[in-house]
Amino acid sequence: MIVERKVSEAMLNQPGNTPLISIHNFGTRSMKLFAKLEWCNPWGSVKDRIAYYMLRKAEERGEISPDKTIIVEPTSGNTGIALAGVSRALGYEVEVIIPEKVSEETKEVLRILGANVLETSDDLCPRVGVGTDQCISLAKSMVASNPFRRRKKLKEYFMPNQYENFYNFLAHYETTGPEIWKQTNGKITHFICGVGTGGTITGVGQFLKEKNPEIKVIAVEPQKRHHIQGLRNFEESATPKVFEERKHVVDRWIRVSDEEAFNAVRRLAFKEKLYVGPSSGAVLHAALKIAKEDDGSCVMIFGDSGDKYGTVYVDEFHIFTHKELEKIIGEARFLNNCLKR
Ligand SMILES: Cc1ncc(COP(=O)(O)O)c(C=O)c1O
Repeated sequence: MIVERKVSEAMLNQPGNTPLISIHNFGTRSMKLFAKLEWCNPWGSVKDRIAYYMLRKAEERGEISPDKTIIVEPTSGNTGIALAGVSRALGYEVEVIIPEKVSEETKEVLRILGANVLETSDDLCPRVGVGTDQCISLAKSMVASNPFRRRKKLKEYFMPNQYENFYNFLAHYETTGPEIWKQTNGKITHFICGVGTGGTITGVGQFLKEKNPEIKVIAVEPQKRHHIQGLRNFEESATPKVFEERKHVVDRWIRVSDEEAFNAVRRLAFKEKLYVGPSSGAVLHAALKIAKEDDGSCVMIFGDSGDKYGTVYVDEFHIFTHKELEKIIGEARFLNNCLKR
């Protein structure tokens, strides 16, 4: 058990240090585009960083331990996968509450990682706000059962709550931001990122602005009733606390439709041989807009790969045929070598 935990902890050192690659086939001459490939994290997304930070910090504070705690979290997928991966490595049981609309591949990965998956009939991204969200309400009611569980000597629930957890912000302030600064030799002029909880954009944005207040931080917002897993439309949902507290770092918002995001996913596959998730498509669409107006060096967060969205791309949005998808996956750069690290 001790050896197993040591091996797993070695794996845990790996979130972060993801590659930053140049995107050069979109004819944006005066604006250099760079993509930070967050699917190269151990469990395949930008959320691995925060899962690691939130659980390790709670352990350090003595709030949780594998023999006393079950991790529970409402999520639209990637945080669940990241928490399941980190929890498993550290020896915790984990329950993930997700909207039923989340892709089948996401549910499958969660089960493979040993999470107990509970589904609710919410929209794709859990909404924040009283009475609007079943995922979050269910998780909170599980945590509320702790006094009873304590009396019965059962393990208690711990909800990291990425929407309110300071370490969601700090993970990006201490890792993603400094990595981008170093990888661009401080030459970054624009940073573009989707917003879900707001941890990524506020953490990276604040770090970069402290280095150079001239850097423009641009937030990508999906349309209402969107299909872009992980992002949030702020007319449909209250603002998460993590974002609310530092949203001043955002200089500009760009609204992207499903069609624009999925179209960009297709273009990235054919032009750059990158197989990305929908949020990366949305971010690229916004970056191309900025590139028409401004020059400099723009860093985009590509939060996850297309790996979990094959059925969405082929059966729901028809952006690839089965045959095209097979070819794309076969040829994609930075896909398998990252995921199998
Ligand atoms: C797949 C994915 N999920 C979520 C997010 C948003 O993350 P956050 O919750 O930090 O705002 C992003 C942002 O890039 C993303 O690409």
